[in-house]
Amino acid sequence: MLSRNLLERDNRIEHRQDQPATSEFARDLARALATRPRTISPKYFYDAKGSQLFDRICELPEYYPTRTELAILRANAREIAAQMGPRAEIVEFGAGSCAKVGLLLDAMDAPARYLPIDISGEHLAAAAASLRAEYPGLDVQPVAADYTQRLLLPATLPGAGQRVGFFPGSTIGNFTPEEALHFLQVAGQVLRGGALLLGADLVKDPAVLHAAYNDAQGVTAAFNLNLLVRANRELGSGFQLDQFAHCAFYNAPQQRIEMHLVSRCRQQVAFAGQWHEFEEGETIHTENSCKFTVEGLRALAAKAGFRPGPVWTDSQKLFSVHWLYAPA
Ligand code: AVI
Repeated sequence: MLSRNLLERDNRIEHRQDQPATSEFARDLARALATRPRTISPKYFYDAKGSQLFDRICELPEYYPTRTELAILRANAREIAAQMGPRAEIVEFGAGSCAKVGLLLDAMDAPARYLPIDISGEHLAAAAASLRAEYPGLDVQPVAADYTQRLLLPATLPGAGQRVGFFPGSTIGNFTPEEALHFLQVAGQVLRGGALLLGADLVKDPAVLHAAYNDAQGVTAAFNLNLLVRANRELGSGFQLDQFAHCAFYNAPQQRIEMHLVSRCRQQVAFAGQWHEFEEGETIHTENSCKFTVEGLRALAAKAGFRPGPVWTDSQKLFSVHWLYAPA
């Protein structure tokens, strides 16, 4: 019997989408400061401190996605396991601390193998070791790779069932539409003949969204501002942290939360031997968190070649979990 207490023991979700090289960060920050509007990838949020802050976000009363997705997976675990069938193999994209997969493993019929993919190999090895201890019969093979690029995975085990991808947390919402399509196409290739289980946050009352990204304790603000802390520490930039403010709002036409760092005054910031001018109110756009309709997500998946299957949601329709068949 597979152990159930993985989630109880550690239901914090470590979101390590990326640990890019410092030089890549330097190049992207230079580009962001030189162009208008100023935009940088949210992947730079996730240094050790940013990952810790994200874990805290997941536990905030206002941040409904994590607990809602977990509740959906818990409530529908049997049905999801039935879709997977016996001896299925799970491939988790951006697995981090592998904290959500336990809900699936507990319900599955003799899972053959678990392949967590994450850019942070060291972190992944530790998560894999604790998962092996928790599930002694399970073959766990971590893959240190950037899952947004073309992926090479080990061949399916002889006698294994279907290969099922797992991409929870609505991380797909942090991609641009082009990146989301590209990710789904890459996933479709490695899951050929299997399926993808995908978590996607839903369009909803903007007040609920606003609260989720502007929490009362200021954890999301600290998460956003940590980008500047990181830049100052790793790249020697001269951002004055008290001269920038967190700003998050719902852009209804684009169906997304936008996070920005807003300059509180007219100022100059030193970076890489240059001064960069900021007007009062000028921003660095740090993240989009796209929200989906069930139909919109299914259409996107179909465009990438998937055949949309069952969808599970919560009673308030806050969040959705999709079963997407990958073409053979
Ligand atoms: C990781 N990702 C799905 C989170 C989101 O909701 O877009 C990141 C986040 N940003 C602010 N709060 C949480």
